[in-house]
Amino acid sequence: MAEASRIVAEVLGEIRKNVSPGVTTIDLDALAESYIVSKKAKPAFKGYKGYPASVCTSVNEQVVHGIPSKTKLEEGDIISLDVGVFHKGFYGDAAVTLPVGRISKKAEKLLSVTEASLQAGIEAAVAGNRLSDISARIQQCAESAGFSVVRNFVGHGIGRSLHEEPQIPNFGKPGEGPRLKEGMTLAIEPMVNAGSWEVIIENDGWTAITKDRSLSAHFEHTVAITKDGQTVLTKL
Ligand code: MF3
Ligand code: CO
Repeated sequence: MAEASRIVAEVLGEIRKNVSPGVTTIDLDALAESYIVSKKAKPAFKGYKGYPASVCTSVNEQVVHGIPSKTKLEEGDIISLDVGVFHKGFYGDAAVTLPVGRISKKAEKLLSVTEASLQAGIEAAVAGNRLSDISARIQQCAESAGFSVVRNFVGHGIGRSLHEEPQIPNFGKPGEGPRLKEGMTLAIEPMVNAGSWEVIIENDGWTAITKDRSLSAHFEHTVAITKDGQTVLTKL
C-alpha cells in the first residue's frame, strides 16, 4: 500500500506543476495516466463503474468526480485533483485542491480550512479512538470556519479494494462506530463547501456540484494506523 500510495503522491506532484491558466483538464489526465503507466501501475478510477478517466478534475462549484474535458482552466479557478492507483495488489487514493493563478481570499480560506480539516481528521485516526472521532474533528474544523461539509460522499477503508469498510462520514458525533486499530488503512477525504452542504449530480451521471453553486474543495490522504499514531502513505 505504501508503494501504490507513493505513486499517487508522485502523480499529484507531477500534475500540480502543470495547473495554470490555459491548461485543459484532459491534458492533466493524460499526464497522470502516462506517469502511472510508466511506474507499471494502473489508474484505479479508469473503468471503475464506467468512470472514463484516470483523474477526477473538479473545478470551482464541482465537488468531486468531475470528468476531464477540453475546457481550459482560468485564472482564479480552484481545481480538485483526485487520483487512485492500483499497484502489486493494493490501492492508494489521494486528492488536493489547488489554486489556478491568483484566487480570491474566500477561495484561499476554503482551501486552507479543508486541508486543515483533513489534518484534524488524520490526527484523530489513532488506535483506541472510535471511527466517528475522525468525522467529528473534520466537521468541527470546517464548520467553525463558517463552511459546510458534504453529506452525500464519505471516506472509506482501502487496501486490496479501492472502497472497503468502514465508510468514514465527514460529520457526526464523536465516540461512535468501530474502535480504530493498528493496521487499519483509511482514505480520509473531507469535501467542504463555501455555502450549503447540499450537492446535485450533473447529467453526465458523475459530476457532483454544489446545489447553490458555491465553491467546493476536497483533500484526501490514504493513512495507516500504527501502534502509536498513524502514517500518511500518500504524503510526497
Ligand atoms: N477518491 C474517490 C473515492 O474514493 C474517487 C473515486 S472516483 C471513481 O471514491 F471514479 F473511481 F469513482
Ligand atoms: Co477516496
